[in-house]
Amino acid sequence: MKEVAVVTGAASGIGRGIAKRLAEDYTVILIDLNPKTLPVVEKELTDAGHQAYSVLGDVGQRATHQNARALAESKGNLISWVNCAGWTRGAPMHDFPNDPAVLEDLIGANQIGSFWGCAEAVASFTTRKAPGAIVNISSVHGRRAVPDHAVYEMTKAAVDALTRNVAVAYGPFGIRANAVAPGAILTPALEQSFVDAPDPVARRNSLELLAPLKRIGEPSEIAEVVSFLLSTRASYLSGQSIAVEGAWTVGLGVPEIDSELAKCYGLDSKTGLPKS
Ligand SMILES: NC(=O)c1ccc[n+]([C@@H]2O[C@H](COP(=O)([O-])OP(=O)(O)OC[C@H]3O[C@@H](n4cnc5c(N)ncnc54)[C@H](O)[C@@H]3O)[C@@H](O)[C@H]2O)c1
Repeated sequence: MKEVAVVTGAASGIGRGIAKRLAEDYTVILIDLNPKTLPVVEKELTDAGHQAYSVLGDVGQRATHQNARALAESKGNLISWVNCAGWTRGAPMHDFPNDPAVLEDLIGANQIGSFWGCAEAVASFTTRKAPGAIVNISSVHGRRAVPDHAVYEMTKAAVDALTRNVAVAYGPFGIRANAVAPGAILTPALEQSFVDAPDPVARRNSLELLAPLKRIGEPSEIAEVVSFLLSTRASYLSGQSIAVEGAWTVGLGVPEIDSELAKCYGLDSKTGLPKS
């Protein structure tokens, strides 16, 4: 019987990258609320010879996860679950809009969605005595603050707390849970944030420069870590939130670059980017 993985937010960006990577090893169940892009990703995977099935729904609703669990259990041995669906919208706290999308919907997708995903996953694993693994997609915002992102940051810190709880409560039954906290990753959501910025090029350049690796990450670079965390290669790793952010959040400010080394590498000693 083939092993099965569920991925939420699978129709775009990081979730799509994760679904693509996991489809190499599992039958994948794709959850998303976008009725246009979800079938496209399912077709992309099935055309490549993989087993992929979709569940259209809002992760803020428990029924979406229950449907995905039932479908997953009908297709094989459900052992992996990734909660990736999420989004953000900034708003200043001192002038907070009276718009449910900025508070309730955001908490519903990022936080409640991850909770119900974990709940259905552990219910399935324990019912079948399966040694399952969960990965929740958090963010560097779960551990660092940026003005106007209080709600998003609350939800991502909650995702880290949820991950620890699952790891502690279900570890005795062979179940592991970890979070991945991405930095800036090039996805449709991030690209849209460039478009919305007053100066899109400057916004993109500033993000590239913030991480010591001097670039924005790719969804495949998150997907590879998720694949590892779900696998038995990570069999003693649980309860952690692993930042995958090009060393962005471990430095103090933007450190100076060694000018001699920069010269040897043909890099600009101020930005660390290749000299044009
Ligand atoms: N891109 C980044 O730089 C970055 C950095 C840190 C964390 N993240 C996190 O990674 C995850 C994916 O982000 P992305 O950049 O790939 O975004 P994206 O917009 O490209 O993809 C998100 C997907 O989630 C789906 N989705 C959103 N709300 C949903 C809901 N309530 N129910 C079902 N599906 C829903 C969307 O339809 C979309 O297909 C999010 O949790 C985000 O917070 C992204």
